[in-house]
Amino acid sequence: MKKILIIVIKMIKMISKIIMLNRYHNFQCYKQLRIYKWIIVLMLIANSSIYCGVSSLRVKRQFFAPTEECIISSTEIDELVQLTKLVEGRRSSRKRPTNREPTAANASDECSRRLREFKTSIEGVLTRYSAMQKSYISANQYELLKAQQESELTDLLRRVDNLEREVEQRFLAEIERLRNSLQKLKRRLNDNLRLLEQERAAGRRAQEALCVGYIQGDNVEEAAKIYRALNGTYDMGRLTNDTYQAEGNTVGALVGFFEALREDAQQFGTIAGYEVLYAHLERNNQLNRERSRIIFHSLVGL
Ligand SMILES: *[C@@H]1O[C@H](CO)[C@@H](O)[C@H](O)[C@H]1NC(C)=O
Ligand SMILES: *[C@@H]1O[C@H](CO)[C@@H](O)[C@H](O)[C@H]1NC(C)=O
Ligand SMILES: *[C@@H]1O[C@H](CO)[C@@H](O)[C@H](O)[C@H]1NC(C)=O
Repeated sequence: MKKILIIVIKMIKMISKIIMLNRYHNFQCYKQLRIYKWIIVLMLIANSSIYCGVSSLRVKRQFFAPTEECIISSTEIDELVQLTKLVEGRRSSRKRPTNREPTAANASDECSRRLREFKTSIEGVLTRYSAMQKSYISANQYELLKAQQESELTDLLRRVDNLEREVEQRFLAEIERLRNSLQKLKRRLNDNLRLLEQERAAGRRAQEALCVGYIQGDNVEEAAKIYRALNGTYDMGRLTNDTYQAEGNTVGALVGFFEALREDAQQFGTIAGYEVLYAHLERNNQLNRERSRIIFHSLVGL
């Protein structure tokens, strides 16, 4: 009851302060006053129930407080660390740690749930990483995986920081080890991704060269197949420049190649190919009757 009185006194003081401050805004002031009056009435009504509520309040508080300390065994941390090391290419020599039952902690507690999430995230990172190494994934998929990888690793590191704040003192060294391991993983993944990207770029360049080779060898069907596989990454103008030869002999083959892609002319922008080819021929004074006829007929059919 004493507490309530103190609160009421405080409120009255507050109200008088408000009145002082709002001398020129009496209307507002009365509105506030009314609200406070209601608060006081409600508090007095609630007063009777507060005493019986105290015990339940205490229970509630206990509920919000951490029930136990987060117990993470060094074996569990070790499993996580081993997991992050998988990417080092030790896949064959070291078996992936199986999802053993948690040893030290109760499987249902908050702490092990978090550990499980950790494991799942790291495994996700590793799975994604091996997916990124597949040559058949498209550039878009690759970019998507890369972005996911980046955010997942950042998130993992943030979670390690949180974990460090919450776990028992004696496990801090282990958590530190996990953090170092994750940071190493991140660096290693970034390095590997750079190499991978170079490889992918080199692979694309090789495919482009192959495509040009096929056109120059008059094998337009094969060239079109490769071009489609490159999925729009090889600009048609660039291809035309790469394929055009000073003597102008590739005109028929190039036009044949454009025609082989006729169904997807819009998507691949073959019209840009015609334009670049035409510009080359005109500039080099190679636009004879036969070549004009080939280009014209092809364009009419487009
Ligand atoms: C795990 O903890 C819950 C309560 O937190 C308890 O009911 C259960 O018996 C415990 N299980 C084991 C295996 O210790
Ligand atoms: C090809 O690229 C388009 C858009 O650039 C993309 O939506 C599609 O998934 C890619 N397909 C393949 C097989 O790479
Ligand atoms: C093709 O080559 C011409 C001249 O050699 C250049 O002006 C043009 O920008 C090139 N086009 C592309 C798409 O590379």
